Amino acid sequence: MHVVRFVGALAVSLAFIPVAGADGLVNPATEKKIDALIAQMTLEEKVGQLNQYSSAFDVTGPPPSAGYQKVMYDQIRQGLVGSMINVTGAEATRQMQRLAVEGSRLRIPLIFGLDVIHGYRTAFPIPLGEAASFDPGAIEQSARIAATEAAAAGVHWTFAPMVDIAWDARWGRIMEGAGEDPFLGAQVAAARVRGFQGRDLAALDTIAACAKHYAAYGFAQGGRDYNAVDMSEETLRNVVLPPFKAAAEAGAATFMNSFNEIAGIPSTGNAHLQRDILKGEWGFQGFVVSDWGSIGEMVPHGFVENLEQAAQRAIVAGSDMDMESRAYVLHLAALVKAGKVDAKLVDDAVRRVLRVKFALGLFDDPYRYSDAARETQVLADPSHAVAARDVARKSIVLLKNEGGLLPLDKSAKTIAVIGPLAADKDSPLGNWRAHAESNSAVSLLEGVKAAVSSGTSVVYAEGVRLSTGARNFGARLTLDTTDRSGIPAAVEAARAADAVVVAVGEDAFQSGEGRSQADIGLKGLQEELLRAVIAANKRVVVVLMSGRPLVLGWTGENAPAILEAWFGGSQAGHAVADVLFGEYNPSGKLPVGFPRHVGQLPMTYAHKSTGRPGPEPGVTWSSYNDMPNDPLYPFGYGLSYTTFSYSEPKVSALEIGRDGSLRVSATVTNTGKRAGTEVVQLYVRDLVGSLTRPVKELKGFQKVALAPGESREVAFTLAAKDLAFYTASGRWEAEPGAFKVFVGGNSRDVREAGFSLR
Ligand code: NOJ
Repeated sequence: MHVVRFVGALAVSLAFIPVAGADGLVNPATEKKIDALIAQMTLEEKVGQLNQYSSAFDVTGPPPSAGYQKVMYDQIRQGLVGSMINVTGAEATRQMQRLAVEGSRLRIPLIFGLDVIHGYRTAFPIPLGEAASFDPGAIEQSARIAATEAAAAGVHWTFAPMVDIAWDARWGRIMEGAGEDPFLGAQVAAARVRGFQGRDLAALDTIAACAKHYAAYGFAQGGRDYNAVDMSEETLRNVVLPPFKAAAEAGAATFMNSFNEIAGIPSTGNAHLQRDILKGEWGFQGFVVSDWGSIGEMVPHGFVENLEQAAQRAIVAGSDMDMESRAYVLHLAALVKAGKVDAKLVDDAVRRVLRVKFALGLFDDPYRYSDAARETQVLADPSHAVAARDVARKSIVLLKNEGGLLPLDKSAKTIAVIGPLAADKDSPLGNWRAHAESNSAVSLLEGVKAAVSSGTSVVYAEGVRLSTGARNFGARLTLDTTDRSGIPAAVEAARAADAVVVAVGEDAFQSGEGRSQADIGLKGLQEELLRAVIAANKRVVVVLMSGRPLVLGWTGENAPAILEAWFGGSQAGHAVADVLFGEYNPSGKLPVGFPRHVGQLPMTYAHKSTGRPGPEPGVTWSSYNDMPNDPLYPFGYGLSYTTFSYSEPKVSALEIGRDGSLRVSATVTNTGKRAGTEVVQLYVRDLVGSLTRPVKELKGFQKVALAPGESREVAFTLAAKDLAFYTASGRWEAEPGAFKVFVGGNSRDVREAGFSLR
């Protein structure tokens, strides 16, 4: 029998400790209404508010058993269901809401949640791609439009942003986050929350956000999804939690916990994470939803013996709502009656759920988001495609451009467009595509055809296929490794062309949930195709579409030009064509490095020094003997069609005090012939810490547009508080001592200065 621990933490979590954003959910008038409602509720009705079921639309976990639908409808009428996932559309949500509002005793509305990850109908680039824009404004706008569309389709709540930091590209869910860096991750997390929630959750074009997966899910051992995580409090606090904290401070109404265990404790049953840190230290006033079945999964984790114990551990640890485990609805009331769970814990969880429902305005009008006319009108808004194209081109990263092959001439006589992803209208939508219609993206081929002059002939050859068989959320992909019949036609097309564009990479369903890969190279016959095409014509531009950094191997060395286009969403083909032909000068930067080899993973630019940092002759320093330690393309890296130079950075003070700040500035010059935009990056190194510090940490970035020949001084303010970290004394504080500052266009190529903190 497990002992119920951590109950004492409840005292902290119930106290209202405002942090920025969190107070938005709490106001005295609403709290009174919630008091009154809770006073009327039976224990079973309370537990009902904590129970979430899925409809059959888009099952994103082990499916509910057949026949459950009837039980579910009956339970909604009995007030035993608080939320539904995967019910969408004005009409469907209205009908289901009617069951709750007209059928149940207390008429408490359901809250409808959905994975609106990078768009609802209009697909924006996958989140990893959007992060490459280093443009929080554009990311906020993308989330704003996603919310507008989703809210018009009856959705109240998205399970986004996913803010998991990841250092291992084998993990398929790296596509859903902002990459490897906690500072960038925090900016992106806050931007997405602002975008989804707007200024008022009750507005008809906003939805509640959900920061997930709390926590450390991105550090699954071996990059294998759902795998265990073993992590120090230091890494948890300094690397994993900053984006979550930023989301909480931006006012995220909900959090979702994660499937993984951390050091032996599944997150769902982890009171330290949910009660001490989230609801205690951060004063979070919204609710925590479990991940799909994650309460029940504490049984196979070997943490509890059965579903009843799982329910007990989860509620005690601070998991407020049960997604698809049926643990609460089956066991929680009995646990309370048996004295095994304090009734106050249930009341607190219910209060949190009701707060969000009130904030959304559902008690004023439960059907307010379910308006079929508005849905039709909003989903057809042509401005959404314009915005999607804009964000998509900002997300594209130019990795290589030998001999200035790019941009291509749009009046060239013949352009060959080749490759398994070239005419693909589906993969650009990426995984987690919500209600984007299959095969609705602008393909690269369509984009190129629309961009070139009327005299240009565009010749297409698929070359090889990526996969055969089923492609959908749940099916494992079968890669095509045998059919070479299309290669000769591709070679023919390449030979006769002035320029060749080859689209390779991954199928949309090679990344995402459950899509970990031990090999992250160009799979199937793609490299074979590239070798044949490059042998026929050297003027080859490789357009990569992928949900993760890839190991490029031969292609990285031999392709003269490479663009990383990610899965760019509905307008992907136009966006890539804008970049190919120089309508848009690429400005994206990698939010995660591209390893040289999968054996380097996990990796980050913000690694520790070690006692043997090298380089030294011989072997006795921390290095691989068969290749460099660093990635092929580092975090923050991305080229432009122009070039930029950086002056030595200047610091306004050589020493600052604990409340002080300094200005770090550098002059950036556009040394090329085209106008271009550079993401100027500021990094810091804390030379000595009570806990060792990374060799570099991003602390700021600015996007600057410069005309040819133009110079601009770019200045950052660095305050002592920006140097704070979770120290050996368990506090978030800056420690006195020497610091280096670095300014540059990526995490590797920087110029440095120094200062100290008194
Ligand atoms: C499981 C995923 O881990 C989570 O991210 C998602 O929100 C839920 N399923 C609901 O689909």
